[in-house]
Amino acid sequence: MNFSRTNLEIETLQEDLSQLQSLLTPLISQNLLNRENEHIRILNLACGRADESGILKKILQPYTQHLHITGVDIRDRELDTARSIWRSDDSTQFDFLHQDATKLDEIAQLSAPFDIAFMRHQNYWNGDLTWKRIYDSALHRLKSQGLLIITSYFDREHILALTAIQQLGATLVTTIRNPSSRTINDAPDKSVDRHIAVFKI
Ligand SMILES: C[S@@+](CC[C@H](N)C(=O)[O-])C[C@H]1O[C@@H](n2cnc3c(N)ncnc32)[C@H](O)[C@@H]1O
Repeated sequence: MNFSRTNLEIETLQEDLSQLQSLLTPLISQNLLNRENEHIRILNLACGRADESGILKKILQPYTQHLHITGVDIRDRELDTARSIWRSDDSTQFDFLHQDATKLDEIAQLSAPFDIAFMRHQNYWNGDLTWKRIYDSALHRLKSQGLLIITSYFDREHILALTAIQQLGATLVTTIRNPSSRTINDAPDKSVDRHIAVFKI
């Protein structure tokens, strides 16, 4: 995982991901994995470079014989990076689609429902209408009892997203503050995976 990143950036990224893994593991196991799952399907929306693919695989692999993680974003360069890092193997299939996440119902590859829709650093602040459409689109792609999981960079954006997603009919299961969230150097109000929320439909 060293595509144009310095050693320090790689080390920092690994620490962020390890922190995220430690918080997500109990949230997912308590809320999803209390049943037999021969296949688990994850939709990683607005995934960018999908840095979290490895920890999603680590968290979910013990619970299933076959894991399928599909990333969706509109940025080609980030998707190319994701494709070059995350390769499918016998237990896990990775796909990265250049698609608009506001229109998931129009994408043939996504017609089967998902166990989890995941959005790391959702971006409600950057366009509330677009993000409401993305949340709605995601909720409509979930299995019954499926989970929508978001993380947010800053407090206000998280609160707005919680409200919007509940207005769309989802139930908030839990929201937690990451105690070790790393502050972003040039944006002191923001920090990495500062909040994590889990919803059920
Ligand atoms: C704040 S970034 C988060 C990226 C990545 N999840 C992360 O944590 O680093 C927001 C992402 O949303 C993507 N995005 C914005 N609008 C989108 C849309 N309509 N469909 C799919 N992705 C979109 C952007 O391209 C960007 O990668």
